[in-house]
Amino acid sequence: MDLEQPNGPYAAITVVDSTTSTNADLERMRPPDRTVLIARQQTAGEGRRARSWTSPPGGLYVSIYYVPTGVPAHRWPWLTLLAGVALVNVARSTGVEAVLKWPNDLLLGPGRKKGAGVLATTTEQGVVLGIGLNVQPVQAELAPGGLAPTSLVEEGADELDLTELANRLLLELDKWEAPWRAAGGDAVASGLHEEYRERCETLGQEVRVDLIDGSFEGTARYLEADGTLVVRDADGRDRPVPAGDVVHLRT
Ligand code: BTN
Repeated sequence: MDLEQPNGPYAAITVVDSTTSTNADLERMRPPDRTVLIARQQTAGEGRRARSWTSPPGGLYVSIYYVPTGVPAHRWPWLTLLAGVALVNVARSTGVEAVLKWPNDLLLGPGRKKGAGVLATTTEQGVVLGIGLNVQPVQAELAPGGLAPTSLVEEGADELDLTELANRLLLELDKWEAPWRAAGGDAVASGLHEEYRERCETLGQEVRVDLIDGSFEGTARYLEADGTLVVRDADGRDRPVPAGDVVHLRT
């Protein structure tokens, strides 16, 4: 993979053949702002909710360490939504239908299967943003909410060079991260909120929200400025859903 961007926005871009987890590596290293680590495969890829992320060769496994100077920490979670916007654009650039399930599951094709996942972990100084994109078919378990896995190939992508995909993803991330950071992390002012909404199929949907202590059904109504989803429950109450798994009840 030739990903040198000497005058680009990234401090360094390292590609390794194999590692346990690119997220775990960057968490340990705490490198300079905008350091990128890409692996051709991971032996212990980490997913959300302490699950694993199946990471055979042929997929894209990328982590970026951001030190978002000037952005208050309560706005850092926007980085995960931003990754979702970038992923939709990369998938669509290959000719594949792509939308988001809040907060950041990439759903591909008419079957709305899961083609990518985003996992962010926070350190005192910044955020490790990890992105796994299924390019070739993977044998993976169903994701929470019963989402079946898929890949760009299975959804009929017309162009699949891994280096090209990685370059596109890094460019897309920078396209949204730079203005977001310049706006002090204000997603509304930087336009990111709007861009995310346009790609998020959850809004307007009948959903089930699975929380740690139970679940409820309702209609996903809107997104707060901080990225929180607001769901109107059966009693007509608008309930903020800052975390938890949202299941689309119709597709
Ligand atoms: C999810 O469960 O949906 C999130 C999956 C995130 C996987 C990526 S692959 C690159 C980075 N390194 C990891 O160990 N996990 C993330």
